[in-house]
Amino acid sequence: MAVLIAGGAGYIGSNMTFMLAQSGHEPVVYDNLSKGHRQAVKDVPFVRGDLADYDLIVQTLRKYKIEAVMHFAAFIEVGESMDFPLKYYQNNFCNTHNLLNAMEQVGVNKFVFSSTAAVYGMPEVVPITEDAPKIPINPYGQSKLAVENLCHFQSQTGKLNYAALRYFNACGAGQNGTLGEDHSPESHLIPLIIQAAMGKREDIKIFGTDYPTPDGTCIRDYIHIEDLCKAHLLALDKLNDKTELVYNLGNGKGYSVSQVIDTVKKVSGKDFKVTKTERRPGDPPVLTADAAKAEKELGWKPDYPELERIIESAWKWHNQNPDGYKD
Ligand code: UFG
Repeated sequence: MAVLIAGGAGYIGSNMTFMLAQSGHEPVVYDNLSKGHRQAVKDVPFVRGDLADYDLIVQTLRKYKIEAVMHFAAFIEVGESMDFPLKYYQNNFCNTHNLLNAMEQVGVNKFVFSSTAAVYGMPEVVPITEDAPKIPINPYGQSKLAVENLCHFQSQTGKLNYAALRYFNACGAGQNGTLGEDHSPESHLIPLIIQAAMGKREDIKIFGTDYPTPDGTCIRDYIHIEDLCKAHLLALDKLNDKTELVYNLGNGKGYSVSQVIDTVKKVSGKDFKVTKTERRPGDPPVLTADAAKAEKELGWKPDYPELERIIESAWKWHNQNPDGYKD
């Protein structure tokens, strides 16, 4: 199937592109390179374009006879979204509306959307199931939920089959540690700890040690990038006969910030400074997924549930790319 990968030069998009090509699909990457890396896109057609550019999207969908779209081209910083809500709604919602509009115009009806655990806000019950209340507490989560709602109504018209995949904490490096995570600035826990282990930053700061968790630090559900991408392939397949799919993607097992730090120390064999600081606003104490629905309906089962293996893959990538991607 010819699949347009919006944001295919980014961390998750580039891993997805590789996996699609590997499994016999024909991915076409569409990315404005505002965050992504040209170097992460290998041997597939690449269109440098913005999702605000309706005409270019339509042209690209036609040119490559696209049958499905996967969309990874969003802004992802929760904190930044609080400071710049307009920016987040513009890119994450308005530009996705533009993309869906172009798809309708051309008659492309399959859509796999990167959603997020942030749609649940501060969940009262963990692990979280898909039918838990959705009360996002920041513009990032709200903008993603707004797209999910739009997709829901568009699917009711019979013009769209979509899957909304709610990621928990995507991490690790795919393809044997060759496709990794390179954000600028970096805000994600695992790459930041690895940078501390590599001596590239003076310490790792723990944001809050007084949470109601066994060691007082926040617990998250870390899911390996390849497992995440595998679920997209399965969902894409299912869109041949289903109009609406919504799944949590996580391992269902949580690790605390302190446990993640200890695991990086073990994998790297390095010691580094750990500084306890204040809580980061908006962090729920525990976020773990109940992913039984994806397991049951898609036959999805993570291959890398152990944190140590996830971190090994990330450690490998960072060591082979100490300054990140070159372009
Ligand atoms: N943390 C630290 N120190 C750091 C960075 C993070 O202690 O330097 C902590 C955070 O407070 C949090 C945990 O590590 O408790 C994980 O933080 P990340 O920033 O790596 O990830 P989040 O859980 O905040 O966010 C991730 C994605 C978001 C998505 C969210 C959904 O990055 O895009 O999951 O739950 F919205």
